[in-house]
Amino acid sequence: MKTIAVIFGGRSTEHDVSIITALASIVRPLELAGEYKVVPIYIARDGAWYSDPKLTNISVYSSGTINSVIRSLKPVSVKFDGALTIHKASSIAGRKQFVHIDIAFPAMHGTYGEDGSLMGMLEMAGVPYVGCGVAASAVAMDKVLAKQIAVANSIPTSKFLNFLRPEFVKDPDAVLKDITNHLKYPLFVKPAHLGSSIGISRVINDTELMNGLEVAAHYDHSIIVEEAVANLIEVTLPIMGNDEPLPALLERPLAGSEDFFDFDTKYMGGGKKSGQKNGSKGAQGYSQIPAELSKDLYAKAEHIGLRVYKALGCTGTARVDMLIDSKTGEVYFNEVNPLPGSLYAHNWRAAGISGVDLVRQLVGYAEERYVQQQQLATSFSTNFLKQF
Ligand SMILES: Nc1ncnc2c1ncn2[C@@H]1O[C@H](COP(=O)(O)OP(=O)(O)O)[C@@H](O)[C@H]1O
Ligand SMILES: [Mg+2]
Repeated sequence: MKTIAVIFGGRSTEHDVSIITALASIVRPLELAGEYKVVPIYIARDGAWYSDPKLTNISVYSSGTINSVIRSLKPVSVKFDGALTIHKASSIAGRKQFVHIDIAFPAMHGTYGEDGSLMGMLEMAGVPYVGCGVAASAVAMDKVLAKQIAVANSIPTSKFLNFLRPEFVKDPDAVLKDITNHLKYPLFVKPAHLGSSIGISRVINDTELMNGLEVAAHYDHSIIVEEAVANLIEVTLPIMGNDEPLPALLERPLAGSEDFFDFDTKYMGGGKKSGQKNGSKGAQGYSQIPAELSKDLYAKAEHIGLRVYKALGCTGTARVDMLIDSKTGEVYFNEVNPLPGSLYAHNWRAAGISGVDLVRQLVGYAEERYVQQQQLATSFSTNFLKQF
């Protein structure tokens, strides 16, 4: 039986969401599959790693007892011994317990988890892991890089400009002028790396733009300004696979969705509610699955989603968000989430893939990619050292 470590928690603002993704959508289905030994690795807010069967119990977190639970445990250490081995202190004095990890299943959102950092560590350890690799994860978490790759691959995305914080600090008026010379209001100003709409503003004139730039520069070194897509319909497409990615259903998030909004509803107090009929309650609120679009528009968005997945070099799974102008029928790439909350299992279920099959297939893709990597030559002999 293979041992799978599910790694969750972490130092990001999305610590709590990660716990739910890990326990409900990964640990439980992996256990139900009956083919794996599942080991939880919980990364506390301070960055210490813990591993104990107790940590798969959601009530440990919801009842707030997590602090006393981790106080009663010792943090584990990790050995890079040609693979990944967890090293646990045992209650019997002087005895150590070693757990060899065959496959890692990262279940972290945001900084230090979803952004490629954890993947880099797993890569160094030489352990197969589920989901996107280092580069795809890092690019997906950077709105500027992701859009630049889209542009390089002729994938439509709203017109944008990007600049660095020091340029803005040095000469704010020049930056503002550059933007207004190239882009048309209304504009969105965004820090390149944050999620959950933190630091994002929609602006319609120079005064608001200057404020928006100041806010974004407060959060990030890298800032993006882009034209707003009019007559907006937002859609998202979960995808899985390596060389032949498979789309789930195109989903249209409606009111109450955490990751998406109707900017008015969430931040401007507009309170415009989308109808919830035909909606199904997903991980992040109400959604229409599949999105009710014309056949052509549906196919176009699905095609763009798959092109983005390939262009960024995603593997395992990711979710591609797109913005549609419902009047012109243009579909614009917005962003990629390399580890969608709860794996978007609700959508896969609607597409006919159960939660258990989803994790089983994702583990399969991790193993497939690892085997492919092993087959690549990573060295060649030289006489370089002989001269010393
Ligand atoms: N160019 C745009 N045109 C119209 N709406 C946008 C645009 N960019 C962002 N939005 C709105 O703002 C929301 C948050 O922006 P997004 O880029 O997805 O950041 P986050 O990482 O916070 O999810 C989107 O879901 C969408 O509703
Ligand atoms: Mg978003």
